[in-house]
Amino acid sequence: MRFIATAQEKFAGTAERELLGADPHGQVVQRFPDGVFLFESSFDRPGFLGALRAHPPVFARHVQPVETETTLPSGDSAPAEISRSCADLFDESIRGLRVAVQVRQTPGEKRFSDYAVKERLDPLISAAGAEPAVQDPDRIVSVFIVRNPGTVYCGLSAPSENLNPWSGGVVRFFKDPNSVSRAESKLLEAMKLGFLSVRDGQRALDLGAAPGGWTRVLQGKGCSVTAVDPAELDRAVSNLDQVTHVRCDANQFRPQGSFDLITDDMNWEAFRSAKVLKRLTVSLQPRGSFLMTIKLGSEDPAQLLPKITRLLEPGLTVTGIRQLYHNRGEVTAWGLRPCQVIT
Ligand SMILES: C[S@@+](CC[C@H](N)C(=O)[O-])C[C@H]1O[C@@H](n2cnc3c(N)ncnc32)[C@H](O)[C@@H]1O
Repeated sequence: MRFIATAQEKFAGTAERELLGADPHGQVVQRFPDGVFLFESSFDRPGFLGALRAHPPVFARHVQPVETETTLPSGDSAPAEISRSCADLFDESIRGLRVAVQVRQTPGEKRFSDYAVKERLDPLISAAGAEPAVQDPDRIVSVFIVRNPGTVYCGLSAPSENLNPWSGGVVRFFKDPNSVSRAESKLLEAMKLGFLSVRDGQRALDLGAAPGGWTRVLQGKGCSVTAVDPAELDRAVSNLDQVTHVRCDANQFRPQGSFDLITDDMNWEAFRSAKVLKRLTVSLQPRGSFLMTIKLGSEDPAQLLPKITRLLEPGLTVTGIRQLYHNRGEVTAWGLRPCQVIT
């Protein structure tokens, strides 16, 4: 079966190797702009999804099944042709479900809008006894349109099968007027993906906190935050209740109490950052969680990331590593401190 996969353009080759690692007899059939590629799996759909669960990709951000592949006519009839191409996907199996339409097109001037496609597909979804939805769908119909030559790839899947609930794994947050840094988007994205859950009343340690975006988000979720950074916090953040700025290098930081979660967004070489996190593990409550940005240097990530994982374990359990849409030249690792460390 074929799948359209998406990664950051610079890391598309790494994402291709990840899928080939999960499915050694698969092949990359075609490459498109912006880190998108067509992958032909040697497995059927459950087999491929099982292989991805066994070998979770870091850089492949989104996959969609390709159930129909259609050449598009030039002119105004393309949206009608896309709806004809998708019609067979909307059968009895979606009755009573909430179904979202996610449309993406390769870059360049659009002959028709994404919305023009959705407008065509929503009535077909309703006619099959399902509810067209935008939020929290049970199924997503993914429509990837390649212009020049015009081809459309469509597939229906559960959000959990796509590695990512957003169209192509791309998420943009509304600009918050109180935001103090672009880095906030990384934490918001990780929380939306369920990599870090934060509860009211928790004690958080934020390493590499300045100018204070992550600290602000954590405080906004009801945490008391110890923010460690030699640089200044934005005044709007340092003045917040429950925020304590410890102005020092994280290497010198000696915590007084314990924490329920540790975040680390230091723009520091990956091993040095991981060593600091490892040292501070003793101040993390058992089952406390961590989220860490790992800077990718010149080393092949396939070598670097297992080394970082081995460094952090067994004191911390690394649950996963992913390149978020908002990561640039970096990836995000998350996990927890196990209750008992077996050495
Ligand atoms: C990308 S910024 C963090 C942005 C922050 N998460 C936010 O949302 O505003 C990286 C920060 O790491 C800090 N940093 C780098 N090395 C550090 C170290 N050894 N100890 C503490 N902070 C460090 C830098 O001063 C910088 O403020």
